[in-house]
Amino acid sequence: MSNTPQQPEQPATTIKTVDNGPLQIKGQFQVVDHDGTVYETRRTAFLCRCGHSATKPFCDGTHNKIGFEATGRAEEQE
Ligand code: FES
Repeated sequence: MSNTPQQPEQPATTIKTVDNGPLQIKGQFQVVDHDGTVYETRRTAFLCRCGHSATKPFCDGTHNKIGFEATGRAEEQE
């Protein structure tokens, strides 16, 4: 019998909020625009959350220049 602790199963895709910045997506996913165009991505992408990127839907770092603030945390769901 092994004493190795069980690791929780990793989800196929993870979306993480970055404080004062974009949404980081890791795993297996597709980014598709409203016309159905599929953007070429790797296993990690950063999507603009501030609305000011010149390369939407992706983040281009403009959030730093404009002082975008978003540090809220989700409330626990019942
Ligand atoms: S979140 Fe980075 S440019 Fe909008």
